Amino acid sequence: MNTPKKPIGLARGLTNYGDADFSLYLRRTFAKQSGLSSEMLKRPVVGISQSASGFNPCHRTTPELVEAIKRGVIAAGGLPLDFPSISLGESFQSPTSMKFRNLMSMDIEEMIRAQPMDAVVLVGGCDKSVPAQLMGAASADVPAIQLVVGPMLPMPYQGERLGACTDCRRFWGKFRAGEVTAEGIDEVEGKLAVTAGTCGVMGTASTMASIAETLGMSLPGTAAIPAVHSDRIRAAEASGKRAAELALAPIRPSEIITEQSVENALRVLLAIGGSTNALIHLTAIAGRRGIRIPLERLNELSDTTPVLVDLKPTGQHYMSDLFAAGGVGAVLRELAPLLHLDCMTITGETLGERLKGESTWVDREVVHAMSDPIRPQGGLAALFGTLAPKGAIIKRSAADPALFERTGRAVVFSSLEDLAARVDDPDLDVNADDFMVLQNAGPTSAAAMPEAGYLPIPQKLLRAGVKDMVRISDARMSGTAYGTIVLHVSPESAIGGPLALVRNGDRIRLSVSERRIDLLVDEAELAARREALPPAPPPPTRGYAKLYQETTLQAEDGCDFDFLRP
Ligand code: FES
Repeated sequence: MNTPKKPIGLARGLTNYGDADFSLYLRRTFAKQSGLSSEMLKRPVVGISQSASGFNPCHRTTPELVEAIKRGVIAAGGLPLDFPSISLGESFQSPTSMKFRNLMSMDIEEMIRAQPMDAVVLVGGCDKSVPAQLMGAASADVPAIQLVVGPMLPMPYQGERLGACTDCRRFWGKFRAGEVTAEGIDEVEGKLAVTAGTCGVMGTASTMASIAETLGMSLPGTAAIPAVHSDRIRAAEASGKRAAELALAPIRPSEIITEQSVENALRVLLAIGGSTNALIHLTAIAGRRGIRIPLERLNELSDTTPVLVDLKPTGQHYMSDLFAAGGVGAVLRELAPLLHLDCMTITGETLGERLKGESTWVDREVVHAMSDPIRPQGGLAALFGTLAPKGAIIKRSAADPALFERTGRAVVFSSLEDLAARVDDPDLDVNADDFMVLQNAGPTSAAAMPEAGYLPIPQKLLRAGVKDMVRISDARMSGTAYGTIVLHVSPESAIGGPLALVRNGDRIRLSVSERRIDLLVDEAELAARREALPPAPPPPTRGYAKLYQETTLQAEDGCDFDFLRP
């Protein structure tokens, strides 16, 4: 029996029994248990990482995508072998799916490395899946293609189109304000997410799909194909075919995820009015390749990147409209003068070569020209100041500019529980001009950085017609949400950041134009408050909770585990 000199396929990474030939013989024996022929077992192997789960309805088309990927792999001469991973359905994890993103990334990385595969197709879509898959693939550095499951379709309801999840929040706000009845909200609940796929607005899932395509980790034109469109299945077949080619002529994530392609991804994130979460995820993905994203650089890029895409929550349309309007390619063509066009993509072409070969048709209702932007500057801005020495983020494209330059009185909630208990109290001392502050919702808090930065406006103000207020926290915000919301304040309050020192009645100054967020309390008073901070609660003593608590980095480092970075 001959062991191949340069092992590929099933001969890669043999289980160690102290006899390589025996290991391969045994592996083939068990592979044949699947009914595979000797001929098939000689082929290069394409792994298919899939994360279907009853707890993840966004991923419910995974089986048909896996089948199409397999078809593509076999047609191109490879052997497809799918394997499961952790699955993170956004609203099904407690305390938040964010707590488990790094765990999923470790699962992906280690299973790519541990199992004999020459390339891998990563099938995912719901918010944390694509980040986790790209983080794992970036670390494993085996040729990888990201295939997203695709966005869901909006559907008409009483004369307007509804789609998760900007409209979920809009209707909940109306319900809280007394504009929608209990029966009405029950009915709407069944009308918001009615097809397979990920949230159909420019939330985190759509933003990450756009970023994966921009980085060059997905096939061109695939980010925005609706989950239920037959093109999605063809994209799966094509991804399988390309992965089988990559198995023999590798292009590795390390050749694709570079400082330049990450910068391109940031440009696109800004131009599409993308999710604030995507900044954390892109930082984590880039971090796996040793690339940093300084928030000061984000501001430079934001000031020179216009918002071009008119999608909810910052605009009018849905992801399926972006697909019909020309997809991410239309955005990339428009942004081309600002992009690094020599970045390599998974197809073997550079980004510039890709764009040259594409149709130039675009629907200007959805993707605006650089000469006619929706906003002249990018959607996100980083703020710094005495309240956030390491930075904070505001999604200015989804905020009310009338609230950008002001000083307000702090109304402080010490935790999510405190917020829930008091926000609708008729006796709460709060006015529309106040700044609502939430503490202890950052990365290492017990809450594990939930999407709670979109603090509910107190009911008494809602009923008085208040639509937006300045809200500040170390939490995240759903990419489908909107409002004048300052997020990711760092260092977080759970580790004693200045946010922990804010007290009711303090003055806070926000200046988006100066990129500042300052707590207007003198240093002596802050020092006294720091001394008086209660001791931190006892840390977890075992298992994943302990690992998470001890090794999670702050927002500006992508909330990755410190030991997973190179
Ligand atoms: Fe899965 Fe929104 S819940 S993408």
